[in-house]
Amino acid sequence: QKLKIYCAEVYCVPQVIFSACELGVFDLLLQSQKPLKAGEVARELGTSEDGMERLLDVLVGIEILEVEHTEGTAHYSSTDVSNLYLAKASPKSLHDMIIYNSQTIYPLWNNLVDAVREGKNQNEKTFGLSSKDIFSAIYRSEEEMLKFMGLMNSTWAIDGHDIVTAFNLSGFKSMVDLGGCSGALARELAREYPSSTVTVLDLPKVVQTAKQHFTESGCTVEFQEGDFFEGDLPPADLYILARIIHDWKKDKCEKLLKKIHSSTSPGGGVLIVEAMLFESRRGPITAQLYSLNMLVQTEGKEHPPSHYTGMLTQAGFKDVQVCRTGKSYDAVLAIK
Ligand SMILES: C[S@@+](CC[C@H](N)C(=O)[O-])C[C@H]1O[C@@H](n2cnc3c(N)ncnc32)[C@H](O)[C@@H]1O
Ligand SMILES: *[C@@H]1O[C@H](CO)[C@@H](O)[C@H](O)[C@H]1NC(C)=O
Ligand SMILES: *[C@@H]1O[C@H](CO)[C@@H](O)[C@H](O)[C@H]1NC(C)=O
Repeated sequence: QKLKIYCAEVYCVPQVIFSACELGVFDLLLQSQKPLKAGEVARELGTSEDGMERLLDVLVGIEILEVEHTEGTAHYSSTDVSNLYLAKASPKSLHDMIIYNSQTIYPLWNNLVDAVREGKNQNEKTFGLSSKDIFSAIYRSEEEMLKFMGLMNSTWAIDGHDIVTAFNLSGFKSMVDLGGCSGALARELAREYPSSTVTVLDLPKVVQTAKQHFTESGCTVEFQEGDFFEGDLPPADLYILARIIHDWKKDKCEKLLKKIHSSTSPGGGVLIVEAMLFESRRGPITAQLYSLNMLVQTEGKEHPPSHYTGMLTQAGFKDVQVCRTGKSYDAVLAIK
């Protein structure tokens, strides 16, 4: 069973799903009212018939698609799983995440050997971009920015509610989500705490893209352009740092937390949202893998609870509470 992790079943299956997503297989089968032959799928999506047939057969083999045989010909159809998670149209779609993994994360992980050897990210070797300015690499084109923001946006459709209810935050009347990206988590906060104001602060280009592509009607979230390492932060009762600490070296994190501490009043707080390692660092496996991903893509890492408690206490915060949600992301709340 253990040896299975070295087999094609594990390292080729992701590529099968990535490719089917990129080619639009799951969207076509969702839209189609009836099961389709390999030749029909190939024609619609502009691929070779032979290649498509083999891809579809593996998708059936791993139970992502279903097949029926009529008059000796295979007809392929979608399943609940492919309709719900893999087709673009579903509200729980993982499509954006899969595309980002396929086009950005996988190429970076091809250079894992060098990342481990050198102890630094592989933006230079993978994409020919400086390894120093991590967000210049992540946002290397308009298209890349949209893809990354789509990825960030998609997480909170699944895990957002658990995060915003991990603690009762109704006492915080103004909330600023630092590096809040598309505003997806901010929208969950605004929905759960309608009597609080919620503002997203992010880099100017990100805010402009968020306003253009990610706003939802009736949503009260405000956006503000800025740089959380430069100048003053907008005042707030609660600052949110979701997937921010894991991007940066320790000294930058400490500087940011000190700045937050001096920007809020006594009773104010900071909510850190990350995939937290166990104290022993012996899991969860997703957090361990994310930490390795931070090595290939950023200058940060994933931490166990004591690291957050340490950084927060050093910045002057007290009453540090840790909440493990049991999902992919966890929350830490600290009060000034
Ligand atoms: C890993 S993403 C997390 C996004 C969001 N908080 C979430 O969890 O979905 C990091 C975010 O920090 C933003 N960011 C990076 N450097 C920044 C800076 N100097 N000032 C403000 N935002 C910054 C990025 O644009 C990006 O939206
Ligand atoms: C962002 O995520 C929400 C679900 O939380 C989804 O309804 C919306 O379409 C997404 N926006 C974009 C532009 O992908
Ligand atoms: C949350 O706290 C507020 C006071 O800040 C209280 O009025 C409210 O009942 C609490 N809500 C829950 C669900 O515990």
